[in-house]
Amino acid sequence: MTLLKLDVFAVRNICSATLLPSPKMNVITGANGSGKSTLLEAIFILGRARSFRTHHIKQAIAFDQPELIVSAQNLSLSSTTTLGIRLDGKHFDIRIDQENRQKADLAYAFPVQLIHPKSYRLLDAGPQYRREFIDWGSFNDDRNFLPQWRLFSKALQQRNALLKTRQAHQLDVWDAELAHYGAQIDQLRKTYFAALQPLYEALADHFLGESSVALRFDSGWHRDLSLEQSLKNDRDRDLRYGFTHSGPHRADFQVYHQNRLAKDYLSRGQQKLLMLALMLAQVVLIDGNSQRDCCILIDDLASELDAVNSAKLLKYLTHLKSQVFMTGTDSMAFGVLDDLTDYKLFHVEQGRIQIP
Ligand SMILES: Nc1ncnc2c1ncn2[C@@H]1O[C@H](COP(=O)(O)OP(=O)(O)OP(=O)(O)O)[C@@H](O)[C@H]1O
Ligand SMILES: [Mg+2]
Repeated sequence: MTLLKLDVFAVRNICSATLLPSPKMNVITGANGSGKSTLLEAIFILGRARSFRTHHIKQAIAFDQPELIVSAQNLSLSSTTTLGIRLDGKHFDIRIDQENRQKADLAYAFPVQLIHPKSYRLLDAGPQYRREFIDWGSFNDDRNFLPQWRLFSKALQQRNALLKTRQAHQLDVWDAELAHYGAQIDQLRKTYFAALQPLYEALADHFLGESSVALRFDSGWHRDLSLEQSLKNDRDRDLRYGFTHSGPHRADFQVYHQNRLAKDYLSRGQQKLLMLALMLAQVVLIDGNSQRDCCILIDDLASELDAVNSAKLLKYLTHLKSQVFMTGTDSMAFGVLDDLTDYKLFHVEQGRIQIP
């Protein structure tokens, strides 16, 4: 979905703002603390029903306000599509075309990808970031992913509860459930990875030059065994520790560059470029595989890249179907904007958004 009208109420220091963005590129400038990241946060909340800056969504609600609201319209289609989210820190109220809907419907209707100064931790932080990355992609790739994931999580919870209370006699039933749904999740992730890989390689090439890169996926259990067999082998250890050691909840992937682990050998800037290649590969896959267009948010572009790579990125973005919102303290941060044909410039000052 392309946002052609965006309304933001009571998100941090933005009390109330209405924007008519470009369907292509939107450049947002403003001094430190003016509200640039807040604007991206509002758009992110509209797609993911959570903030990228805090686990406590209440912190994103403007001081002294009971709730925040973000809504958007896409008037370019024959029928108007409207999206809206209202949240008071505890409850969500999500509407798509005036109907009450769930978080997953919102996420599917408005896929939004965020690149910000901490995104490079995708490569070198804990596996949960990479699982989130795979799962967001798999969710967008195949609508079976979420229901399968919910069934798997339920089986995992049940098995862990039995392990904690040492009820070994009931484990067989849950091992079978877990192995069944776990194998489905694994297959969906592998299919997704296979589709992502060539796009990622082409993008890594674009940003890093003749680079031989590879992604290696780890299912979360011994590669030569079925999940069922792994669960059997692990049983004593699982009972001792009170949790399930093997399964898709332990999956991970590693990024290699010339057969070496990228996180151990590449410079921080190069790692950022590989992260960018991964994130954009996800976007290209969504844009290519469905009627849906992904929205790209890039916070603080200059802190991510040098001038040459910023220019490469801008050039690449102009060829994508996606709508882009990117921030920087001044327009110099974006390099030469003259090369862009269709873009809008916004300036933020103390939470107010103006067209300069
Ligand atoms: N819940 C809140 N209510 C009101 N204001 C808030 C709230 N949370 C944070 N702020 C303020 O909102 C302002 C905007 O912050 P934001 O991070 O969007 O700025 P920014 O333009 O991205 O700055 P920078 O260039 O430093 O990244 C800050 O001054 C911050 O103190
Ligand atoms: Mg910021």
